Amino acid sequence: MPAALSVTGLRKAYGSVQALRGIDLAVGAGELFGLLGPNGAGKSTLVKIACGLVRPSAGAVEVCGSPAGSAHAHAQLGYLAELFRFPDWCTAEELLGLHQELIGSQGGVAERRELLQLVELGDVPGRRVGAMSKGMQQRLGLAQALVGAPRLLLLDEPTSALDPAGRRTVRQLLERLRERGVSVLLNSHLLSEVELVCDRVAIIDGGEVVAAGTPAELSRAGGVEVETAAGVRTFPAATRADAPRIVRELVAAGEDVYSVRALSSTLEDAYLEAVGRAPVAGDETGGRGAADEAAKPGADEMGGRGAAHEAAEPGADETGGRGAADEAAEPGADDAAGRAEDEAA
Ligand SMILES: Nc1ncnc2c1ncn2[C@@H]1O[C@H](COP(=O)(O)OP(=O)(O)OP(=O)(O)O)[C@@H](O)[C@H]1O
Ligand SMILES: [Mg+2]
Repeated sequence: MPAALSVTGLRKAYGSVQALRGIDLAVGAGELFGLLGPNGAGKSTLVKIACGLVRPSAGAVEVCGSPAGSAHAHAQLGYLAELFRFPDWCTAEELLGLHQELIGSQGGVAERRELLQLVELGDVPGRRVGAMSKGMQQRLGLAQALVGAPRLLLLDEPTSALDPAGRRTVRQLLERLRERGVSVLLNSHLLSEVELVCDRVAIIDGGEVVAAGTPAELSRAGGVEVETAAGVRTFPAATRADAPRIVRELVAAGEDVYSVRALSSTLEDAYLEAVGRAPVAGDETGGRGAADEAAKPGADEMGGRGAAHEAAEPGADETGGRGAADEAAEPGADDAAGRAEDEAA
């Protein structure tokens, strides 16, 4: 079975701006894949190319084995844009009905009800978009992306406007979708969310993949901290397996050891390191007087903290295409229809 999303040697130049400089990645069936990176890294550009909204300068993108932008690729994917705005006058129910018509879904009222329940809007099917909070609109956007039971979901910062309860709802929703074999590419700045829910992660910066792996691989071991009578010492390059040796050496040297803690870095630490924003860690000296670690990894548990959080600002009206909430708010965005071309040769 082909990958739900396959990206090979993908490049995109907007005039002189190199947004993507050769990206390779694949999202398997039922895989939840997180795409991380600073503002301007190229995340949305990649997603828009996968949707067929932006043309690549080089390389290939396939959705379930079909070229991005083709009718078969469109039929397999659902998309929630980072900046979207649905018509204020439309009710939740009407909006989903409109999208059912656009993509030819035969799901009828049963599909609409199920989707509104999935995103916890089941009690307000008649509420107009204009009377919804930002978070409700974002959840409606997710329901819209799910119309027609797509096999690949492209979600560009789907939880940026959600409160913690709303984020949990979405997390649980994504987990349920994974059980059904739906694949998800999730762009996010919320590292803790990504760490909790994603099977694999790629960090991109300046249009290139700078780190990739499972969240556990990326948030690798981050040293050992030992409390002695002389104070707390950190051995930044040590792992949990080194703890007994360190304690033996300290005791042999006449130290009293009060506590030992294996540290692990969070995904946030790994992210900051990968995009070159991390403080430099001290060297391990392996014995007495070890330099204290500058990077301050967290304790043994996972869960990134203090992730940058980008608020969603709904842009312009959404248009057709299968679940495609068009980002008319971005002037100059070149689309597949050949509008406003500003591509490099
Ligand atoms: N339509 C466009 N025309 C010209 N340049 C563009 C266009 N869209 C994006 N860019 C540029 O391409 C680069 C990548 O932008 P992109 O929106 O893909 O980043 P991003 O990773 O999604 O950022 P953010 O986290 O802020 O959403 C940026 O330098 C951006 O200014
Ligand atoms: Mg973006």
